[in-house]
Amino acid sequence: MVTGGGSGIGRAMVERFAKERPRGIVVADRDAAAAGEVARQVGGLAVTADLTAEAEVKRVIAEAEARFGPVDVFCSNAGIVPPIGGFDAPDQGWRQHWDIHVMAHMWAARALVPAMAARGEGYLLSVASAAGLLMSPGAVPYTVTKHAALALAESLAVLYRDSGVRFSCVCPALVETPLVAGAEDSAVGRAVRAAGPALQPAEVADIVLEGIRKEEFLILTHPEVRDAAVLRATDPQAYLDVMSGLWSAVGGTAA
Ligand SMILES: NC(=O)c1ccc[n+]([C@@H]2O[C@H](COP(=O)([O-])OP(=O)(O)OC[C@H]3O[C@@H](n4cnc5c(N)ncnc54)[C@H](O)[C@@H]3O)[C@@H](O)[C@H]2O)c1
Repeated sequence: MVTGGGSGIGRAMVERFAKERPRGIVVADRDAAAAGEVARQVGGLAVTADLTAEAEVKRVIAEAEARFGPVDVFCSNAGIVPPIGGFDAPDQGWRQHWDIHVMAHMWAARALVPAMAARGEGYLLSVASAAGLLMSPGAVPYTVTKHAALALAESLAVLYRDSGVRFSCVCPALVETPLVAGAEDSAVGRAVRAAGPALQPAEVADIVLEGIRKEEFLILTHPEVRDAAVLRATDPQAYLDVMSGLWSAVGGTAA
């Protein structure tokens, strides 16, 4: 089951996972037309839902289980970028980021992990971002909630280490999807582009599947993200200097 499976990375994961001939595949997305098209293409089930409410997360899981039985692999992938900014971003925008990037992952875990632990198997995959290890300069709600998504996945991986349930967190840098199309118009988008090369969604899906096969917790798609994370851990001031340099190079300002 893949949330945000109607587009971009989620769609590519659905298409890639379908080649492994799963018992069933579920595309959950708030975009009904996109979810329907992807589900039809792979012979799966489309469920339309806005996953920023726990009741909706529970409903999509119930619909999936009614059709195919217990969920083996659940990918919390749905995400957004706007609003960008910092404290100038409206509270409602901060809440949307928090709900889709963190609470939706937590609600899915709450609904699924007890039964997975009882079965002694199951897999939760979170799509966070390189911004969850580092930052996306100028996109503060995105950065903060992607850090929280990673922290949630790490915390659950520790709590459920001996349960048979597996956890992975994917932290991609730039991937060519509708989320970032046209982002060159803003300093945030220019900074993302300037930070390194882009991958295609299908390349990310291949890396994710390989990571799941190896049961790797942290799935990194871009090698430069690892290097920057090491710099952040070992020389935080140098890391902030690099990020500040990137932000001023693209003409970024505080508001
Ligand atoms: N594209 C990148 O460069 C990039 C980099 C790092 C991380 N990511 C992350 O990857 C994930 C997928 O992004 P993408 O680039 O494929 O974006 P995308 O916009 O192509 O796809 C995101 C999908 O999520 C769905 N969605 C958004 N909010 C939803 C909600 N409340 N309920 C249900 N569905 C919802 C959208 O309808 C869309 O189909 C996101 O979490 C994003 O933050 C993307």
